[in-house]
Amino acid sequence: MSHYIVEPVSGVSGAVRVPGDKSISHRSLMLGSVADGVTEVSGFLESEDCLSTMKAMRALGVRIDQIGPQAVRVHGVGLRGLKPANHALDMGNSGTAMRLMTGLLSGQAFDSELIGDSSLMKRPMERAAKPLREMGARIDTLDGKPPVKITGGSPLKGIRYDLPVASAQVKSAVLLAGLYANTPTTVIEPAITRDHTERMLLSFGCQVDAAHGEVALTPPTQLKACTLEVPGDFSSAAFFMVAGSINPKQDAVLTITGVGVNPTRTGLLDILALMGADLRVVNHRSAGAEPVADIEVRPAQLKGIHVPEPLVPLSIDEFPVLFVAAACAQGETIVTGAEELRVKESDRIAVMAEGLKAMGVTCEVLPDGIRIQGKPDGKVFSGGTVDSHGDHRIAMSFSVASLRAAAPIKILDVANVATSFPDFPGVAASAGLNVSVRE
Ligand code: S3P
Repeated sequence: MSHYIVEPVSGVSGAVRVPGDKSISHRSLMLGSVADGVTEVSGFLESEDCLSTMKAMRALGVRIDQIGPQAVRVHGVGLRGLKPANHALDMGNSGTAMRLMTGLLSGQAFDSELIGDSSLMKRPMERAAKPLREMGARIDTLDGKPPVKITGGSPLKGIRYDLPVASAQVKSAVLLAGLYANTPTTVIEPAITRDHTERMLLSFGCQVDAAHGEVALTPPTQLKACTLEVPGDFSSAAFFMVAGSINPKQDAVLTITGVGVNPTRTGLLDILALMGADLRVVNHRSAGAEPVADIEVRPAQLKGIHVPEPLVPLSIDEFPVLFVAAACAQGETIVTGAEELRVKESDRIAVMAEGLKAMGVTCEVLPDGIRIQGKPDGKVFSGGTVDSHGDHRIAMSFSVASLRAAAPIKILDVANVATSFPDFPGVAASAGLNVSVRE
């Protein structure tokens, strides 16, 4: 099992570019596959999660060419052109791939089965299956978990669905099934979640109306292939936003270039601003339907806050690294309303608390969050061994902690960093971090 050895360094500075957005890359393959015509995607994230989706779409009869670095060409087969796979589709570590594919496959004329790695096989799937059954889909799970078995050939009807949890994956699964329904589908969100599916559907010529927390999709007769540009992943940039903020090198500037700044993703900018961070979003531009910018980060003395609950869904994947920032803040940081963190690639509340405690940080686990006592001065983390429990974002978060560590940090079980950030050690090195991989 591979691990990282992360050496303490004097600081970070310069410019880094993070790989393409994972959420958008998955969606580009799925929608490109069922469009009419050829969709070209640039900035595509060639990570294990997105490659699982690529393999699945190929197994369903779609030709997808990797035409250059981070560039793919998807030869769409049309809404009704997918073919049955002759094996179970393995979605690897990716909850997004499994839930969105459940929606897409619900509308097909053939049967499908979805499986995944040991982490994914333990994650809840009924949240997606339940509304899809209301639409008429036939779906079986095993005690609510994968394998997900979809019996094809059921006609789907549009529904009006009140999401019980703020989840972009469930919203997207319902919208993708809605492409195959005989009447419009509406999803009502309890809180705003990432809207990449809606934006991309519009790019493919589909009618989607979103207002006041409601998203309505009119079933199209076809999706029209298009050209897509995937921006840098805000969630990958988050590690460097925190690194630049807790940076011991005074007056240093760390710039993260070409980052997607869709407002449904940038809750961390607001949270760090409330904590006193110095983040400047500059050079605004767009990548098709998605806004992009560069983010400049300067060191700042952070202060603890109670994270406003409406920001939780807008920063859902950034909590592990936010906890590292909180450990370096003056005073206490409290996170509540974040029980969803318990059903991510790991239980991110428990796993982060275990690692923080192992490095001498005082924290208390809450049912729906955490309370962290910050240590604002000098070396905040003792160094030592932490276990990422195979969770990519935990491994990268503790790498960032090395900026304020008294001794090297050994991070166990890091192979899954490749699910979202294939060359994390290399990109981290370009900022000044020292992360080496050991087998
Ligand atoms: C994602 C939605 C979020 C997020 C995940 C990606 C997506 O999950 O945590 O990493 O691409 O739709 P939930 O919808 O379960 O909150």
